[in-house]
Amino acid sequence: VAEPLVLGIETSCDETGIGIVRGRTLLSNTIASSMDEHARYGGVVPEVAARAHLEALQPAIEKAVAEAGVALADVDAVAVTSGPGLAGALMVGVGAAKALAVSLDKPLYAVNHLVGHIAADILTPDAAPLEYPTVALLVSGGHTSLLLVRDLTSDVVLLGETVDDAAGEAFDKVARILGLPYPGGPEIDRAAAGGDPTAIRFPRGLSRASDREKHRWDFSFSGLKTAVARWIEEREAAGDDIPMADVAASFREAVVDVLVTKALDACAEFGVPRLLLGGGVIANRRLRDVALERGAAAGVTVRIPPLSLCTDNGAMIATLASELIQSGHAPSSLEFGADSTLPV
Ligand code: KG4
Ligand code: ZN
Repeated sequence: VAEPLVLGIETSCDETGIGIVRGRTLLSNTIASSMDEHARYGGVVPEVAARAHLEALQPAIEKAVAEAGVALADVDAVAVTSGPGLAGALMVGVGAAKALAVSLDKPLYAVNHLVGHIAADILTPDAAPLEYPTVALLVSGGHTSLLLVRDLTSDVVLLGETVDDAAGEAFDKVARILGLPYPGGPEIDRAAAGGDPTAIRFPRGLSRASDREKHRWDFSFSGLKTAVARWIEEREAAGDDIPMADVAASFREAVVDVLVTKALDACAEFGVPRLLLGGGVIANRRLRDVALERGAAAGVTVRIPPLSLCTDNGAMIATLASELIQSGHAPSSLEFGADSTLPV
């Protein structure tokens, strides 16, 4: 089918996303988030997320269909994130997608969440089509991954990922240390205003020469989190005031620096003059600015989809399936299940 009408379901973390696309045209993208329910725990609680998906799915599907101005029966295919993500949360989406595909008698496409994030970029109305190869950096509360994309539908290689906390998780945990609410990213951004990013030299994880062999493209943020906690403890023990803006700005700089450095190093290593950013942490203005600035200096074009397509959503899942359909990929058999560690 040229320009297939696809409904995509995304439930890998705390967002219940339903998106409808026709080919590469976005028709609707509804998102129900259980973020507020997780706030008092300081992070996403898997059980709470799964239950919230169960409650949010049916109304979200109805809303997405209404907003798209299509009839559910006209959908050419159903797409769903089968992994990676939270097992219980994924299972709710996969179950719903199978039920929907069977009841509509339409093909079902199980897709990878990370590759979905990359697909979000081709929905950008005024952007040129995705050029290959491209390096992709995906940073959210659940993942921090560096990928080499030679073809969206058939050749995506995971170069590296975080060995402990995700970048967004680091923002959330350090916010907690600083006494700021969840989610921590925007809070740290606010706290960093006017701060000196060079005030404190916090560690850049896995960036030593000795890390090159095994972890060249991997990330680590738990040492950074510990360094911030220790720095504050020491000042407090000495009875000193904590320069919040400097701490927040220096922490943010450490995260941004290591993300951008490794992404641009990968561009250089693989001779790729293109970098695509995705994931909720892209909301960070400093990250976008440093990536654009250092990208330009390195001759790398940096693409950043609009934030509504960077955070987890159903439209990116529908778009990936739409590309799979148009490149002749067969649908998934109904035997597949949710896979919390699904490889790309
Ligand atoms: O992609 P996303 O909306 O959802 C999941 O990870 O599921 O990303 C949310 C993450 C949170 O960890 C949040 O703290 C982080 O993105 N985040 C930010 C900013 N806004 C959101 N991190 C840094 N700076 C921001 N401005
Ligand atoms: Zn995601």
